[in-house]
Amino acid sequence: MTPFGHAPDGRTAQLYRLENSRGFRAEVTDYGATLVRLLAPDARGEFADVVLGFDRVEGYAGHDAYFGATIGRCANRIAAGRFTLDGRTYSLAQNNHPPGGPCHLHGGRRGFDRVSWSVDEGTGSESRSSIRFRFRSVDGEEGYPGNLDVEVTYGVTEANALRIEYRAAADRPTPVNLTNHSYFNLAGEGAPDALGHMLTVAASQFVPIDAGLVPKGGLAPVGGTPLDFRAAHRIGDRIDQPHEQLRHGAGYDHCFVLDRGGAGLALAATAFEPGSGRRLEVHTTEPGVQLYTANFLNGSFAGKKGHRYGRRSAFCLETEHFPDSPNRPEFPPVILRPGETFSSVTEYRFSAQ
Ligand code: GLA
Repeated sequence: MTPFGHAPDGRTAQLYRLENSRGFRAEVTDYGATLVRLLAPDARGEFADVVLGFDRVEGYAGHDAYFGATIGRCANRIAAGRFTLDGRTYSLAQNNHPPGGPCHLHGGRRGFDRVSWSVDEGTGSESRSSIRFRFRSVDGEEGYPGNLDVEVTYGVTEANALRIEYRAAADRPTPVNLTNHSYFNLAGEGAPDALGHMLTVAASQFVPIDAGLVPKGGLAPVGGTPLDFRAAHRIGDRIDQPHEQLRHGAGYDHCFVLDRGGAGLALAATAFEPGSGRRLEVHTTEPGVQLYTANFLNGSFAGKKGHRYGRRSAFCLETEHFPDSPNRPEFPPVILRPGETFSSVTEYRFSAQ
């Protein structure tokens, strides 16, 4: 592990290196249990870092784009920052202000992305292929009920996959919806845009949103819309079409309902970058994946190696439960109760052709 700068709580952040025998490598930091680098080979065997971010922890703490971070207690948006659970209404931070009105986003002002996680002592060795982070979110934190103990385990496999396992337990009923918020560009971080990536998303339905980027209620078919990625399309082919949903999202910023046959890992999405030949497959146990095409980036700050990350210079595939689920009984439930264990796995599988 190596020092990675000074976190807001005064601690020295640490950077941990995970690698396999083939040179595939991930680097993660305890601040936000964040994925900092991911080095994957192209068709010629050349490695590049395919995730956006910063060279020191201060960059992550100083910006609210959630680069590479573990997101929780509830990823995505909760309408008006309120939900009712077992007859009691809870008020969360309204930390996001889209055109349609304020809402709660990604766990609040100090979500899981903005805390220092502890490292499981068993994974402190120098060269390793996995590491486990732990965090206790205390009762009332950001308005959420109950103490929640969370574990996130990152691992790299010999098949050039990054596997992320989440587990959580609570002492009172609480909503839980965890994800990773990496911004990918398979041509390498710093490439001008991701619009040329070929994308598929294994979803026949999506969660339609209003101008406030929160669900309107119910689900909608992708068929006949620019959100149909059942067959591969360039991310940029239809992104600026005059469609209500693309207008609301300022591009793609939608949760897709995965066509899955049952429990276990299922293919959620694939991305292929023709110039490098890098291909990413995302497999998950979650019911949804948020496709976000970095519509809010604007190149106004420098990331790794001074690279400026412009609008749509990456894409996110945030595997998760649906937005506003605590208020939507028609969506898969996100309430974790004492005695239950939250468990979720996502694999980002890399190859090149
Ligand atoms: C998620 C949301 C986007 C945006 C990013 C962070 O992807 O869906 O609207 O808020 O987080 O910038």
